[in-house]
Amino acid sequence: MQTLAGRTALITGAAGGIGLALARKAAAEGMRLVLGDIDGPALDAAAEALREEGAEVVTRVADVRDPAAHAALDTAAREAFGAVHLLVENAGIGSAGSVLGGDLADWKASLDINLYGVLHGLRASVPGMIAHGEPAHVVTVASLAGVTVNAGMGPYTVAKHGVVTLTETLRDELKLGGHAERVGTSVFCPAWIKTNIAGAVKARLKGDGVERAPDPMRDAVSKFVQSAVSEGMSPAAAADAVFDAVRARRFWIFTHAESGPAIRRRMARMLADAPDPQPEPEPAD
Ligand SMILES: NC(=O)c1ccc[n+]([C@@H]2O[C@H](COP(=O)([O-])OP(=O)(O)OC[C@H]3O[C@@H](n4cnc5c(N)ncnc54)[C@H](O)[C@@H]3O)[C@@H](O)[C@H]2O)c1
Repeated sequence: MQTLAGRTALITGAAGGIGLALARKAAAEGMRLVLGDIDGPALDAAAEALREEGAEVVTRVADVRDPAAHAALDTAAREAFGAVHLLVENAGIGSAGSVLGGDLADWKASLDINLYGVLHGLRASVPGMIAHGEPAHVVTVASLAGVTVNAGMGPYTVAKHGVVTLTETLRDELKLGGHAERVGTSVFCPAWIKTNIAGAVKARLKGDGVERAPDPMRDAVSKFVQSAVSEGMSPAAAADAVFDAVRARRFWIFTHAESGPAIRRRMARMLADAPDPQPEPEPAD
């Protein structure tokens, strides 16, 4: 989609972090904004700041786990501005835990928000984007974790792999339906971006009332993520990368130099079809 000015962007999880940076970038491009987030006060504050910068903004408190919330966002966009041109399924949470020791509540929260949240959003808005006949583009926010494997981060990694595959599937279905010329797709796979994602995890673990069993891998990964995010790329630079890809109609959006080598290592292991490099010793007969 080359022309952005005057068109409408619908962004989930837009009250902070990457979502807010995307909203700010869309406004700077002259787009009208429809913003959703579960955090009403933070969403109001974000909208106020964007309006002061001259943006046209409509907001809805929307929990991405709820298909009806996506429908309400889509309706709000059509009523206020006529159509959705850029859909960004961004809302998400961090979630660590080992396969055997992690809490099922964390697996469920991650899959419900990070994966089903995206699926619900696509189903609510993409049919209208196909039908309105104007150029349109769908961006899902996955992660580098959506194409790599990360011990201790299963709940997040599995959900983000799902988002990547879901988006590839949508791209191919749009192609088969004859819509891909007009409705572009991209999947955003950033590495570390400096947001409050780790702080939000801490707050959730403290406040959700779940009694978690000890999981040293979860604790180690959470600590590592917190430090990596605090030294991450700026959300504004991440938003620039997304908009460059939308303009260029690029499907894959990566942000960091280490992404390519990390993907190549995984693919090489997959294609080598070799025995595990560190096999357990065979028991003596
Ligand atoms: N920060 C990173 O290093 C990084 C790296 C890769 C991918 N991502 C992805 O980027 C996206 C944005 O993350 P961020 O880093 O800006 O985090 P963030 O915590 O700063 O922002 C996330 C936003 O989503 C909202 N949100 C959370 N649960 C929601 C729900 N159920 N319904 C609606 N809104 C909800 C929050 O209120 C918040 O405003 C996420 O999908 C995340 O997985 C982040």
